[in-house]
Amino acid sequence: MANVWSSNVDFKNGELHLSGIPARTLARDFGTPSFFLDEADFRVRARAWGSALTDSFGEKAGTVYYAAKAFICVEVARWVADSGIGLDVCTGGELAVALAAGFSPSKIELHGNNKSVAEINRAVQVGVRTIVIDSLFEIDRVAQVAKDQGRRQRILLRLTPGIEAHTHESIATAHEDVKFGFSIASGAAWAAILAVRQHPSLELCGFHSHIGSQIQQMEAFGIAAEILISFLGKYRDEFSEQLPELDLGGGYGIAYLPGDDDLPANVVLPALYDAVQSSCQRHGLELPQVSIEPGRAIVGPAMFTLYEVGTTKEVILESGATRNYVSVDGGMSDNIRPSLYGAEYTAAIANRFSAALSRSTRVVGKHCETGDIVIRDIDLAEDVAPGDLLAVPATGAYGRSMASNYNHVPRPPIVAVLNGKGRVILRRETEADLLALDV
Ligand code: LLP
Repeated sequence: MANVWSSNVDFKNGELHLSGIPARTLARDFGTPSFFLDEADFRVRARAWGSALTDSFGEKAGTVYYAAKAFICVEVARWVADSGIGLDVCTGGELAVALAAGFSPSKIELHGNNKSVAEINRAVQVGVRTIVIDSLFEIDRVAQVAKDQGRRQRILLRLTPGIEAHTHESIATAHEDVKFGFSIASGAAWAAILAVRQHPSLELCGFHSHIGSQIQQMEAFGIAAEILISFLGKYRDEFSEQLPELDLGGGYGIAYLPGDDDLPANVVLPALYDAVQSSCQRHGLELPQVSIEPGRAIVGPAMFTLYEVGTTKEVILESGATRNYVSVDGGMSDNIRPSLYGAEYTAAIANRFSAALSRSTRVVGKHCETGDIVIRDIDLAEDVAPGDLLAVPATGAYGRSMASNYNHVPRPPIVAVLNGKGRVILRRETEADLLALDV
């Protein structure tokens, strides 16, 4: 069971404090809604994933690539660099942020199922370490770009091992109805290998797979590793040489609700090592260099969103029971996950202690849409009132990064808090920003 709050959050007399700063001070100084990022927590997690990979895999440790899609801005890219780990980018935009931060391209990996030639060009030109190739078209595109630039580009092939990874169960199936990667079962992966080998400008280093996100059990990762390693065996049998690298992607789950389990680095990596090691033994292969790409597990737990309550109202349900609707000053524009995936969150009144009884509550946003729900069903103190602050934990991953300007609501800032001091690292959008694109 994992804590839903980052390590420097605590409650004193009912008021939330981050690194010693009371929620009311955070709201006064930075406004609401805002994302508060526990910098120390983020840095500790990033380092923990890096050192757990090294501890488990020793000289066979590849790279931990932080998945930028979970959340990236220039300052956070610098923290990632400081932590000694690499960066996974999946668009030219994410690459641009990394480069603006001075992130070393030799620790960047480029993903994407439909990279443009311009994106490939830039990536090869700046010298990203690895491009993960996703289609036959892309083999030719990357090969051509590398050739034109007189380079040999390191690549991995993204394979679909045919696993459905659910939060609570994992099953290997023949179901491969996804846009990503080359299917092993259908022969597409083998065709890709043959195609890559036609291009002297490509250096095939190994295989990649990413089986899903917010996975809470290790089993699926072991199955994926076995399938990829068996394929490394087939390659070795055919070409009498072993490919040196395997990237097993991200997807490690975090706690959103009290009582949720997570998959921390010190659990994931020893288990991954055991799975890789025993598969390699079975197939008579040397251990490859293993890389991973956690995103959510590093940034997710490190942030909470602070909202201010604007209105409340009671509705009478068909059953005769009542529900309290609590409207906050953000919503689906800063957290689309509840509407998009049915994702569940918890919340706490952050500015004060309440001795009131709790009651069935729905936390909703300020958007012109019924589906604008932050928390569908939560027990909250019945005296929650306009002016109260509501904190929603574990919003660091895919919160701000998937935020929109729906209803022309400005996107909230990211405020980093460290050693009792807060500073804006990504500012709040303004009305001028909202108008900036109108021609
Ligand atoms: N590597 C690859 C190739 C990926 O596609 C992803 C996520 C990751 C790594 C990082 O996965 P993580 O460790 O963060 O689970 N928007 C969704 C999640 C989409 C994940 C897409 N790929 C959500 O909010 O749950």
